[in-house]
Amino acid sequence: MSDTVAPASGGTGVFAPPSRFRLPWSSAVDARIDGSKLPKEVVLSVRDLTVAYRVRRGMVQAVRKVSFDLRRGETLALIGESGSGKTTLALALVRLLVRAARVTDGTVVYQRDGRAVDVLRVGSNALRHYRWNECAMVFQSALNALNPVLRVREQFIDVARAHGMTNRATAKARTLELLKLVQLDAERVAGCYPHELSGGMRQRVLIAMGLLLDPQVIILDEPTTALDILTQRTVIDLLRRLKEERQFALILVSHDLALAAELADQVATVYAGRIVEYGSVTDVFYRPNHPYTVGLLNAVPTLSGDFRSLDSVRGQPPDLIDLPRGCSFLPRCPFGTAECEREDPQLVSVVPGGPSIPGAGSHTAACFHAPAVAKSFSRHLQAGQAEDVASPDIAAERGAR
Ligand SMILES: Nc1ncnc2c1ncn2[C@@H]1O[C@H](COP(=O)(O)OP(=O)(O)OP(=O)(O)O)[C@@H](O)[C@H]1O
Ligand code: SF4
Ligand SMILES: [Mg+2]
Repeated sequence: MSDTVAPASGGTGVFAPPSRFRLPWSSAVDARIDGSKLPKEVVLSVRDLTVAYRVRRGMVQAVRKVSFDLRRGETLALIGESGSGKTTLALALVRLLVRAARVTDGTVVYQRDGRAVDVLRVGSNALRHYRWNECAMVFQSALNALNPVLRVREQFIDVARAHGMTNRATAKARTLELLKLVQLDAERVAGCYPHELSGGMRQRVLIAMGLLLDPQVIILDEPTTALDILTQRTVIDLLRRLKEERQFALILVSHDLALAAELADQVATVYAGRIVEYGSVTDVFYRPNHPYTVGLLNAVPTLSGDFRSLDSVRGQPPDLIDLPRGCSFLPRCPFGTAECEREDPQLVSVVPGGPSIPGAGSHTAACFHAPAVAKSFSRHLQAGQAEDVASPDIAAERGAR
């Protein structure tokens, strides 16, 4: 097999791998479902997804009844504290959970070209096709996600080969194109081992690898967390540019509100394994209806703000094996009442008559006292006290941005 670098087959360019590299999606026939009720623009429709880890002490309820729709080209940011279940949720969407984890309920429907399948039921061939070709995940730790004993080039070629791109020369050419696209010195980086690259370079290598098979959905888990502020800026600009060019749907997992403010269309606040608020960036940043979202916003430092006015969300996240009775946020909530002890509130529209399933056009919150929370926040905004921390623009300016 030739080892020389050749132009991508058929001159199709980086983002259009020839169709023969695509396994037929019809191989997922075993899990096909009636997608006629699904709007055409929805690419991922998640309903009641529930995941638990079995540990010695019991079951860790890491993801609880999560539902949302993701549209083509849309960016959804999942925000929340450490341990809230963001990574577990993301891994469940691509069925990459560890053995100790079990999906105990729910569906994940993926739709392309009018055909819909339940990802949780597809067989191994179709699943392999779904991961990378349809939905790629870039993992939380860029160093751990790369094989330390293989040069970058070989890792790309391995992925390409596993997904039907058997011509080594074509795979190499595509690797170089993608590395250039993410603004790396392609020839040099392709020949490096992961430990020879900086954190930002590794992150960009992983993003390029995620694009290898031109997926419709990309999941990025904490893409900027381990990076210095200048490298973060490069990665953010890169993601914005790639999204404009490619129009893939993006699920951005992050506890960085600034990143969400810059890149996302929709934001879901995740607390103790549940989505507790969902809405457009503007809704969630300007009109939060859940006290936890308000707490996260108040914890965002700004360049001009007074550090003494910063307030973290008081208390600790709950034990996911033994959740508190009623609303799981109650022990930390300044708005809690006796009513909140009775049951965990459902996610409902905060706009009368609005959709209660998180998706385009919905603003939902799981709080019995959402109107009071929204009103209190709005009073702060009017008083100019919260503006510094609440506006997406200000959040996006956080640090040196
Ligand atoms: N392999 C595992 N075995 C048991 N429990 C786990 C495992 N992985 C995660 N958990 C638990 O599941 C919960 C959710 O973890 P997860 O990693 O999804 O959170 P996260 O929101 O991604 O956190 P972070 O922001 O720190 O990455 C946590 O309570 C965590 O302790
Ligand atoms: S339901 Fe009650 S405890 Fe839960 S977030 Fe709302 S006010 Fe707080
Ligand atoms: Mg995580």
